[in-house]
Amino acid sequence: MSAVNKEYKRITTKSLVDMKSNGEKISMLTAYDYTMAKIVDGSGIDVILVGDSASNVMAGHETTLPITLDQMIYHASSVIRAIERALVVVDLPFGTYQSDPKEALRSAIRIMKESGAHAVKMEGGKEIRESIRRILNAGIPVMGHLGLTPQSIYKFGTYTVRAKEDQEADQLKEDALMLEKVGCFAIVLEKIPAKLANEVAKSVTIPVIGIGAGNGVDGQVLVTHDMLGMTHEFNPRFLRRYLDLYHSMTSAFEQYIKDVKNLDFPSDEEQY
Ligand code: KIV
Repeated sequence: MSAVNKEYKRITTKSLVDMKSNGEKISMLTAYDYTMAKIVDGSGIDVILVGDSASNVMAGHETTLPITLDQMIYHASSVIRAIERALVVVDLPFGTYQSDPKEALRSAIRIMKESGAHAVKMEGGKEIRESIRRILNAGIPVMGHLGLTPQSIYKFGTYTVRAKEDQEADQLKEDALMLEKVGCFAIVLEKIPAKLANEVAKSVTIPVIGIGAGNGVDGQVLVTHDMLGMTHEFNPRFLRRYLDLYHSMTSAFEQYIKDVKNLDFPSDEEQY
């Protein structure tokens, strides 16, 4: 039986807050293109994230830093053309919102206007408060992102679990309260101890969606290519693979190559 709540014909930022109040967990996955977004949306996902992880997954960069605003808009508009139900949130890429609030607003407006997305996501806490405020004042919903924030990878130096020490945990709790206070509609918490994530989720009324943040939060997000097993070199503890597409696809491609080489494809029935 499907776990999709049919009461929601279209997911809005308000639906997510209602889900939290009703104790219904929020499902979120990434998509960067039309075909994947159509399948993910058709399956009944609540939120599609056009993540800047496209920089790694789609473009093969080592980090999320190189992806541009134009590229994010291209991915987001492909996703938007596919969806009927999900809320589509788009990452503001590195370098488009950190320098000043006016630039942040211009970047967010370009995403909303040129892609048709429903909200933006931004990494960081108090250091980007004014930018978040300005974007919210323009009527653009903002999802926060705390914990492991991949755009700051060169500051952290590693992709290991964040906020294990009291000082960083306290700052994270303060930042989460600030994000709620300024008006963010949700927060992503990435790769932090489950106990801390649960504490944060209980301390705010807006939904907290985790990735590597345990099950005491209001929802979960994974990178679709990882959970489908299309990527196979990335093996964090939090990742559950629902398929092993890397090996299934490799077998299919090998079979195709064999069929072409052996003149088994196309058959008589497969030609005009
Ligand atoms: O870019 C992304 O895919 C993300 C998720 C990991 C939350 O930010």
